[in-house]
Amino acid sequence: MSKQKIIVTGGAGYIGSHTVVELIEAGYEPIIVDNYSNADRGIIVQIEKITGKTVQHYELDCNDLAAFRKVFEAEKNVLGSIHFAAAKAVGESVANPLKYYHNNLQSLVNLLQLQLEFGLEYLVFSSSCTVYGQPEKLPVTENSPIQKANSPYGNTKQICEEIIEDTVTSKAKLKAASLRYFNPIGAHPSAMIGELPFGVPNNLVPFITQTAAGLRESLTIFGHDYDTVDGTCVRDYIHVVDLAKAHVRALDWLQSQEQNSLHEAFNLGMGKGYTVLEIVQTFEKVNDLKLNYRLGDRRPGDVVKIYGNVDKASHILKWQTKLGIEEALKDAWRWEERLKGIELVK
Ligand code: WQD
Repeated sequence: MSKQKIIVTGGAGYIGSHTVVELIEAGYEPIIVDNYSNADRGIIVQIEKITGKTVQHYELDCNDLAAFRKVFEAEKNVLGSIHFAAAKAVGESVANPLKYYHNNLQSLVNLLQLQLEFGLEYLVFSSSCTVYGQPEKLPVTENSPIQKANSPYGNTKQICEEIIEDTVTSKAKLKAASLRYFNPIGAHPSAMIGELPFGVPNNLVPFITQTAAGLRESLTIFGHDYDTVDGTCVRDYIHVVDLAKAHVRALDWLQSQEQNSLHEAFNLGMGKGYTVLEIVQTFEKVNDLKLNYRLGDRRPGDVVKIYGNVDKASHILKWQTKLGIEEALKDAWRWEERLKGIELVK
């Protein structure tokens, strides 16, 4: 029986590449569509080394409808898609909002238009916990109020969920799951793929590993006087491999649903909060090293404390995290060390 094809936009990126590995291991045939604006072409080869399979891939921008249509014309019997392709740097989105509104919204509209035109019934959408803003009550559930986004990036995620909702309500034949990620960290245990931030990392864990590798002078912890157990911000960190597996579970679940059209949101996190300092101390412990860090000023726009209730994903998707922050921080460090040796094609 031929394998079920899934278009994976942004499939060479951090979460995309880990999801492509899990799709292959679950028996799907992923087709990567990526413009490599925030990913490295060398990752395709790494995915093929991990899985022993060749991966079909197209280099194009999802905002280019004509180019994107060619993939749908070339690839027959595609079951559905997983949509990762989006710009995702919170700070950059504040400085350059129009890039975010154009890139993140147009790419989704193009994908939906082509899915309906070519009859692809299933969509898994990469959303984010930023849709909750600073929640009043913790842990956040999928019914927690969607608050005004803290950034244009977060707003594009909210608007994208609404675009999907309105498309489903129009009775289009579409079954969609919006996956609201908390903070993805770590790397594949093979250390063949992992996070590859271009330039200075915005996110905490790649900044930690680059500091430990001597690429950065020291880590600045943004804010240490918050109303938390040690004064630093609380986040719900999830191993990227657990997160990747949730995408496969969501795809399987969508195919088991009878309705013609549906749209469900799912929180994907560990369901537990850790402070920045706890992450730093755990990194030092599991990797047996001392990290150079200092306590600095708050970062504007930071949510103080957020972590998710993940019961819905566990009950409906039959999915649970299996890896803790210890494994994630070990895998992140192993990947950083391997990076020195991997010649990635830029
Ligand atoms: C985590 C904590 C920082 C860097 C963002 C997006 C979210 C998702 C993940 C895409 C905060 C602190 C960080 C540093 C620090 N992205 N920090 N020093 O902001 O929670 O979430 O990335 O989906 O949508 O909003 O992640 O890793 O930037 O920050 O102290 O050098 O680490 O202040 O408390 P964030 P982050």
